[in-house]
Amino acid sequence: MTQGRTDRSGSGTNLDPWYHHYAARAAGLSASEVRALFAVASRPEVVSLAGGMPFVSALPTELIRSSFDRVMTDSGAQALQYGSGQGTPALREQILEVMALEGIHGSVDDVVITTGSQQGLDLVTKLFVNPGDVVLAEAPSYVGAIGVFRSYQAEISHVPLDAHGLVPEALRERIDELRGAGKTIKLLYTIPNFHNPAGVTLSWDRRLEILEICRENEILVLEDNPYGLLYFDAPPPQAMRSVEEEGVIYLGSFSKTLAPGFRIGWALAPHAIREKLILANESAVLSPSSFNQFVVSEYLRTADWKAQIEIFRGVYRERRDAMLAGLHEHLPELTWTVPTGGFYVWLTLPPQLDSKAMLPRAVKELVAYTPGTAFFAHGEGRRFMRLSFCYPTPETIRLGIRRLATVIDGELDLLDTFAPTGQLDSVSLSERSTAPPPNMN
Ligand SMILES: Cc1ncc(COP(=O)(O)O)c(C=O)c1O
Repeated sequence: MTQGRTDRSGSGTNLDPWYHHYAARAAGLSASEVRALFAVASRPEVVSLAGGMPFVSALPTELIRSSFDRVMTDSGAQALQYGSGQGTPALREQILEVMALEGIHGSVDDVVITTGSQQGLDLVTKLFVNPGDVVLAEAPSYVGAIGVFRSYQAEISHVPLDAHGLVPEALRERIDELRGAGKTIKLLYTIPNFHNPAGVTLSWDRRLEILEICRENEILVLEDNPYGLLYFDAPPPQAMRSVEEEGVIYLGSFSKTLAPGFRIGWALAPHAIREKLILANESAVLSPSSFNQFVVSEYLRTADWKAQIEIFRGVYRERRDAMLAGLHEHLPELTWTVPTGGFYVWLTLPPQLDSKAMLPRAVKELVAYTPGTAFFAHGEGRRFMRLSFCYPTPETIRLGIRRLATVIDGELDLLDTFAPTGQLDSVSLSERSTAPPPNMN
């Protein structure tokens, strides 16, 4: 074992003697330089508007405990055993019921249970993306998806979104540009509902137009929808998968509507793709956790899960309202998106500010957020930040926004003082990576 700790060829680094042995794809797995800062930000005195952690304390713990107990009593031997690579038939049936709420009518044969939808992202990318292939994604996009695409050496090409989601005209133009440059486009990755991080929802007309564009161009749509049932007023438009079976792989998850600790998500794939997806799942994990599938299935069978989702909606609606009220009160000169569901607000800063450079000062003032740069593949996004309202209480959110306003005002004052040079030392923080620190999802 000591061998591994020495620099075997003289070409490794002091910290990692195997540095030059990694596969090329491992280069995509780089830690973010804000990771250390987030360790500080998790101290209790810091108001964190950074993480995307669901408020699991709103769950009926007794009901979940009794689901555990019943699984052990009635089906312990099966639940503790390896299972099928596709997932248990009972849970797959129940998932059809969940998806029907968003207009999807699929076959139980085409549902594949995954270890969170994060693993669904990984499996689909593994199956379709060769190094250098293009994955289209909204600008900004989910940090965890960017990490997966990078790790398979995809070329990530961002397409702008606005208050109504991904802009179809921009998508058409980007596809033409990329095709003109001889690129192979494999996937369009989209989060149509209550986007992470932008908070916006794709309109119905745009859903249809985007599906049409992808059909014409033979681009597979990867529809990632963990937040769709967490709407605050009216449900969002129906899923893209509800109108297009062959060209869409749909990803769902129990992480936000139940609990992320179960790590149970699913993919609904076109029939022809499903078999490969199961094989990829088996190759990655043999079978998704039998025990957790049994417990989730028992919970869905015995609890009023729709009423529980309604409770979550109320909790998150109140927190969204607290955040918007705080922004109106303390930062009225800025602009932000107004989410009608989900967890996130996307804030635009004055052009002279840099959210990444400002983060250490914010943490010093006991408030944390996620800098916009985390959500772009190529270091853009300094003018933006993601504010999460899912976890802190409304009161804490208001306090956090007050502190954030102090930080932003302080930065603007400093820049005024140092104008016209205006260059603050922290602005030169390097931009090595945008990979997610823990809890930034
Ligand atoms: C858009 C999006 N996709 C996928 C995931 C991964 O979720 P999980 O693997 O917990 O299902 C997240 C988590 O925050 C997310 O926001």
